[in-house]
Formats: sequence, C-alpha cells, structure tokens
Amino acid sequence: MSLSVKHLLGIRELTRQDIELIFTTADQFKEVLQRPIKKVPTLRDTTIVNVFFENSTRTRISFELAEKRLGADVVNFSASGSSVSKGETLIDTVNNILSMKVDMVVMRHSATGAPHFLSKHINVPIVNAGDGINEHPTQALLDAFSIRERLGSVEGKKIAICGDIMHSRVALSNIYCLKKLGAEVTVVGPPTLIPKHIAQALDVNVSYNIREALEWADVANVLRIQLERQNMPLFSSLREYSLAYGVNRKLLDSLKKDIVIMHPGPINRGVELSSDVADSGQSIILDQVENGVATRMAVLYLLGRNEKEPATAK
Ligand code: CP
Repeated sequence: MSLSVKHLLGIRELTRQDIELIFTTADQFKEVLQRPIKKVPTLRDTTIVNVFFENSTRTRISFELAEKRLGADVVNFSASGSSVSKGETLIDTVNNILSMKVDMVVMRHSATGAPHFLSKHINVPIVNAGDGINEHPTQALLDAFSIRERLGSVEGKKIAICGDIMHSRVALSNIYCLKKLGAEVTVVGPPTLIPKHIAQALDVNVSYNIREALEWADVANVLRIQLERQNMPLFSSLREYSLAYGVNRKLLDSLKKDIVIMHPGPINRGVELSSDVADSGQSIILDQVENGVATRMAVLYLLGRNEKEPATAK
C-alpha cells in the first residue's frame, strides 16, 4: 500500500486509509526503536534537509532522529544565521539547497501555506513541520497514534481540545485527524480564542466551560496560548486565563472519572496546565514525544518509498 499524496502538507489532504497506513507502519518502527540497534537502512542513499524558519525543540529533534534511524543523510538549516537575513527568498533558498542533490524537504515556517506554495515549485516531497496557524500534520498524527496506544482506538472517543484554538495549528490538524478517524471533538476555551464558525465548518462541538467539557471527555489535549501569533493578547491576563481555563488537580478531582491528559509542548506550567497534572500518571505528554519519532519515521519512509516506486505501482 502507498500514500495517496506525494507531500505531507496537511491532514486535510489525507484519507483515513493514509492515516491508518501511517499508524501500522509506525507500529513497526516503534518495535525497531525498542531494539538495541535502533536503525533500519530503508532511506539509505536519501538526503533530507530540515528547513526551519521558526524555533522548535521537539519537532526538529524528532525529525532528525527519525531520519537518522532510517539511515538517511541529514542536513539542518535554520533561517537565523542564514542568508535569509540578506533578503534571499524562500524559493531561492530551497532551490539552492536542492541543487546540492537533496531528496526530501521538511519545513517549518511562520507563514500559512508556505509548504503548499513551495510544493508547486520543487519536485521532491515536502513534509510540513508546522505552517503559521494552519496545520502541524505530524503533531496530529503522533497525537492520534498516542490516543490509539493508550485507549485501544480513536474511533468513538471523546476528545476535548482546550485553550487557544484560534491560533493553533495543532488544533486544526488534530480536528481533521480525529474526525477522519471517527472521534467526537469538542473545542473549549474563551470565546475570544475560538473561531466563530468552527462548529459548522469543522463539525465540532464548542464549549466555553472547561469543567463541563472535561466531564464529557475521554481525553483533554491542552494547548498553549500562542502569544507570538496574537497582535494584541485576546485574554486580559494569563492569571485570569489560568483561573478560568487552566487544567489543574482540583479541576480533575472534581470530575466523575479519570481522563487522559495530552499537551503538544512547550508547556507554560501554571498557565494552561499545572505541574502536578502534567507530571501525573494521567498524562501521556512524554509518550507523545516518544511516539513522534516512530510516526515521523513512518511518514518519511512512506513518502520516500512513493518516490522510488514506479508510477504504476501506486
Ligand atoms: N509540538 C511542537 O511543535 O513543539 P516544538 O515547537 O518544540 O517543535
């Protein structure tokens, strides 16, 4: 089986079969990662460049590890310290890198649609590692993979996505992914941080009451307030936000059941999530990070294999 896409630009473009293929492939890579020798040479002779125009800890390290575990040659590019500061365009930057015989590009950019734009100008597969407030597809894949691992499946599960929905690419990719896999989704947060027509546009429930949403949910995916993407903060103070929407032990203890806690990182401890919850047995935050490597190995392997197979085999 092959993916239906040449690039991973967003979850929106994937089929449910694509997502399930990524998961069964990631299952196999997760087994490899438990072995003493954690490498498989499936992308030997492939060179991958990680092009990051925005800061990252988890995504960048996770992609680099995934690439190295697959035996690829890896090059890392950061916009800071590069000739971007001298006015070089995105297309010139990437075309110069590609002329050095690179086979795949992983890109993070602050502009919505940057990887989609680039995909029309270059011939090698592109993986979107986060574009502005649009999508972060590999985060959604590793999140859904982690829910499947903890709860046995995603189908029929109730997922609350909590916090700054308006500026979060993680929220949008999660909604696409979870809905395609048959989950029910509620977005919960202050009205100023939830897009107005999201219920109709994306077939999700909307709540402005965190306790009610968590009482309903099997899983809470708690998001950071993306202050760097807001011209003016849309909540009057972080302390006020934390009092109204922070997920803490007192709130969880008031629920009638235990729910699974997720967070894509980085966590603003004491704002959207308290430390006693983040570090508790209910939290699968570090499982998410661990699963990021196997999930990204699956994406890179499947896109790389697509490239090597003749068109008739797809
Ligand atoms: N989850 C996530 O995208 O984290 P980084 O910004 O550290 O990559």
